[in-house]
Amino acid sequence: MVLCEYKPGLEGIPAAESGISFVDGQKGILEYRGIRIEELAQHSNFLETAYLLIWGELPTQDELKAFEQEVRSHRRIKYRIRDMMKSFPESGHPMDALQASAAALGLFYSRRDLHNPVYIRDAVVRLLATIPTMVAAFQLMRKGNDPVKPNDDLDYAANFLYMLTEKEPDPLAARIMDVCLILHAEHTMNASTFSARVTASTLTDPYAVVASAVGTLGGPLHGGANEEVIQMLEEIGSVANVRPYVDSCLERKAKIMGFGHRVYKVKDPRATILQKLAEELFAKFGQDKYYDIAQEMEVVVAEKLAHKGIYPNVDFYSGLVYRKLGIPTDLFTPIFAIARVAGWLAHWKEQLEENRIFRPTQVYKGVHDVSYIPVAKR
Ligand code: ACO
Repeated sequence: MVLCEYKPGLEGIPAAESGISFVDGQKGILEYRGIRIEELAQHSNFLETAYLLIWGELPTQDELKAFEQEVRSHRRIKYRIRDMMKSFPESGHPMDALQASAAALGLFYSRRDLHNPVYIRDAVVRLLATIPTMVAAFQLMRKGNDPVKPNDDLDYAANFLYMLTEKEPDPLAARIMDVCLILHAEHTMNASTFSARVTASTLTDPYAVVASAVGTLGGPLHGGANEEVIQMLEEIGSVANVRPYVDSCLERKAKIMGFGHRVYKVKDPRATILQKLAEELFAKFGQDKYYDIAQEMEVVVAEKLAHKGIYPNVDFYSGLVYRKLGIPTDLFTPIFAIARVAGWLAHWKEQLEENRIFRPTQVYKGVHDVSYIPVAKR
């Protein structure tokens, strides 16, 4: 029995009741637990924002200090995980390496009482602490180097850049990395969060929840778009080529990467913040010709597609920021994952509070009563 009309992509169909984040796609508003993203980007840091998302309230000073300390002391990954990662092919995509490594954590910390606050806190701390270490370790190992040990003197984002680049980052670079993590930490019921909630609803462990969400985030229509934005800007190559490139995409009905969003019909507020960060970085570390191309694209695409509500999304400027920070293109999506672990864990916890296993229906379009033909007669 079909209870309601089938909607491809489940567009507009609520998959959960949630108090974690809110988007007004017409006004370009994003809030985490009621706080505007602009305020968090200006005043918060990633771990405080993660705490807010997961536990629902901003931590007190003591709570924040204790949480930061716990995360800091759990940053190292087990030798056996490191050795497993060493055996991954260097040519493999870092998102696949991350998915496998996150899932492997579940081998060490098996499912216990999912409702026990101690187990929940332990899993949250462990995942937030080790995912950046895994991303950085794979990056160094695929170049043939040993991973760098986490630096306990550095904050979350600064330590990540340190493990990745093997040197202490400039304070502006570290602050900008931290803001990027805040901006990517959560975004209502997107594909990877839905995937996390479906996995959580089976009462499996949080490592499997994060691993399934990482797998979902990797696709080019979701987190993978930021890599494709840079490839697109490289292909365009000059400001003069922007208009012909956009025209040719529209003629071929090809999607222009970094533009459009299922929910936002105005410029994504995160893209506005990221654009400002990109400008701060260029002011300090030198201009980037791809930024000129990007700005021209924003103008040309608005001219052609504003009537459809197609504007830059979060991925359009994030790649330019990461590029200026010296991060290789195929690590852009893993960095997105580092941030989004906070949102996925918030949804894992919320799902468990009133869990019912996901079991949607389908509209069967196949045939019935077909006779089996033995293989020799086919
Ligand atoms: N370039 C050109 N046209 C576009 C674009 C785009 N990037 N995005 C949407 N459109 C057009 C479509 O062709 C369609 O036009 P039509 O009505 O004439 O057929 C209309 O706008 C609606 O597009 P849909 O694909 O139906 O929109 P949907 O909500 O399904 O897609 C999506 C949203 C997947 C993000 C899409 O805009 C897209 O593919 N963008 C490029 C990839 C990208 O940047 N992804 C990152 C998204 S943000 C994130 O995941 C963190």
